[in-house]
Amino acid sequence: MEEIATGSIVTTADETNPAAAAPQCARAPVGLLAELTHRCPLQCPYCSNPLELTRVAQELTAAQWQDVMRQAGDLGVLQLHLSGGEPCVRQDLEQILDAAVTAGLYTNLITSGVTLTRERLEGLAKRGLDHVQLSIQDVDPANAERISGYKGGAAKKHEVVKWIKELGLPLTLNAVVHRHNIASLPAMIDYAVEMGAGRLEVAHTQYYAWALKNRAALIPTREQFLDTVRYVEEARERLKGILVFDFVVHDHYAVRPKPCMGGWGKSLVTITPSGNVLPCHAAETITWLKHDNIKERELGDIWLNGAAFNAYRGTSWMKEPCRSCDRREIDYGGCRCQALAMTGDPAATDPTCDKSPHHAAFKGLALKEAYEPSPAFLYRRMGAGVAAD
Ligand code: SF4
Ligand code: FES
Repeated sequence: MEEIATGSIVTTADETNPAAAAPQCARAPVGLLAELTHRCPLQCPYCSNPLELTRVAQELTAAQWQDVMRQAGDLGVLQLHLSGGEPCVRQDLEQILDAAVTAGLYTNLITSGVTLTRERLEGLAKRGLDHVQLSIQDVDPANAERISGYKGGAAKKHEVVKWIKELGLPLTLNAVVHRHNIASLPAMIDYAVEMGAGRLEVAHTQYYAWALKNRAALIPTREQFLDTVRYVEEARERLKGILVFDFVVHDHYAVRPKPCMGGWGKSLVTITPSGNVLPCHAAETITWLKHDNIKERELGDIWLNGAAFNAYRGTSWMKEPCRSCDRREIDYGGCRCQALAMTGDPAATDPTCDKSPHHAAFKGLALKEAYEPSPAFLYRRMGAGVAAD
């Protein structure tokens, strides 16, 4: 996801205790990630969707999504990311896009591309789609197909990239990197230049959900991680004015965390296929938070006053060492979901940070798992997932 700035600042009340000090938040989220569906023909083992995938019968209807778009426009949201799963499996994507365009949102389609036809893409462009972000698993077709569990995907994606450029749509390529494709990163950079992408997102795998299940298969060695830093830094310099890079570093080998989501409840909101409104795509792993649903409450009210959004907004919830750290307004203590997954406490310091008492164990996991033979992938599928090599 692109880096985005925050909007204007107002204060709002704590719904459980109106007299309590109100947390600060932006009047409106800058970006909305609309997960239209969890259905997807690909089965990537690093998928950030939850292990319990939402079934089609639970998905919001087109009319409900259209109302979300209206509410988002009224609230002042600027960017809409149409995502999934694979958003193009929804045959009513066009109706949802129309509502987003009418609401004045900048629209970004996040897709694997494999279900698109040229006619459909052209139709989306004519309706006002602003941007396409297309995922690639590798430039080596056999390896790309092994990672995604989808035969013929690499060739189809290549076609789609050509159509995107022919239609004049701005293109970002997205490559999630891990131990099975890092060696191809220089070739992926060359491919992005050759195909005329404006931006390449090189994102080290974030270990939530399916990726956490597959961590031992995906986690790179420290040397592989340092290779990616070198490749990106060299290419960023060489390709100035040609290709913009977004680089998401590998947490286990870092010493300071990222401000996950730009800060909890600060600039981004996610809506799941069934309509749950979340501060981040993995927030449902914090099972004791109350996650409001768009069918029951207005988007603006949830954003400002929802219990889940205010639980970790700002800095007042922090414990030591974050509470007294001079970076607390920079990284907001890192990622709540990773803190939960690795320490059992979402209010703990993200173990990416070397001030966390869990940092050594967190780094040690990588230093152990990455140097052992990779187990088979557990592919992302409805139901339990399927183990395969
Ligand atoms: Fe960030 Fe907390 Fe680490 Fe300070 S102690 S750098 S606020 S994660
Ligand atoms: Fe939830 Fe980072 S993924 S806060």
